[in-house]
Amino acid sequence: MLKKLAISAVAALALSGGAALAAGASGHVEDVDFSFEGPFGKFDQNQLQRGLKVYTEVCSACHGLKYVPLRTLADPGGPGFTEDQVRAYAADNFSVYDPEIDDDRAARPADHFPANNGVGAPDLSLVAKSRAGFHGPYGTGMNQLFKGMGGPEYIYSLLTGYTGEEKEEAGTVFYGNTAFPGGWISMGPPLADEQVEFDDGHDNSLHHMSQDVAAFLMWAAEPKMMARKQAGFVAVLFLVLLTSLLYLTNKRLWAPVKKGAKAA
Ligand code: HEC
Repeated sequence: MLKKLAISAVAALALSGGAALAAGASGHVEDVDFSFEGPFGKFDQNQLQRGLKVYTEVCSACHGLKYVPLRTLADPGGPGFTEDQVRAYAADNFSVYDPEIDDDRAARPADHFPANNGVGAPDLSLVAKSRAGFHGPYGTGMNQLFKGMGGPEYIYSLLTGYTGEEKEEAGTVFYGNTAFPGGWISMGPPLADEQVEFDDGHDNSLHHMSQDVAAFLMWAAEPKMMARKQAGFVAVLFLVLLTSLLYLTNKRLWAPVKKGAKAA
């Protein structure tokens, strides 16, 4: 019975893997070394600020971030804005509808980034987590397990993966993209070399800006990643300590019995 079950499970896996491959369902995702990978990884504050700038000047024209409160830009571990900077950033860049005055007003730190569904562009608040995906051989997720390749790598690969090909289907233009599942996406290449200028003159090639905005979207999706990693590390340390204490206690408790057994 068990053997039969195992065989059908393996067969099902192989079949689904094969089907997915045949349809070209999972795109090609590049590995990128991000500062926040690994057990002690941290978000790079300057990179998050650059990514925010790319999002604000380019992506926010189509994509919202409706689950992300603006005030979190000042939270520790994030882009590291001061309260005043958040206030100025919110007011300068976004306006929100306020039911109390039945009109739009400048955004405040207590508001969220606005939603934006105008052109059918998905909200990006959680995309870095939802697209972590099962990449790697046969869509098993091995690349994520062993190389830490997740959502940010997918976003980077999407932004840099345009092939330059276009096709029109039922009045919609699709753009060839090696990372997008299926190979064709309705978002035109949103980012190009030198499209955004950074105050400190940081490298603004497509390659670098794609990493910056991918890192920013990872932070947006999981702002408490560092706290989670720390808690996990402390928990493991605690378990190691507890295990050794229990081992020693156990030895000590049974020592007289063992001695007795040897003597007898
Ligand atoms: C002109 C509007 C527009 C701009 C600007 C734009 N996008 Fe998009 N984006 C879209 C649309 C439309 C889709 C849905 C495409 C589809 O499903 O075929 C999309 C889809 C996406 C997806 C989701 C892909 C998936 O797996 O479902 C990501 C990620 C994304 N965009 C990131 C970005 C980033 C980052 C920027 C800024 C650098 C950006 N976009 C700028 C219109 C835009």
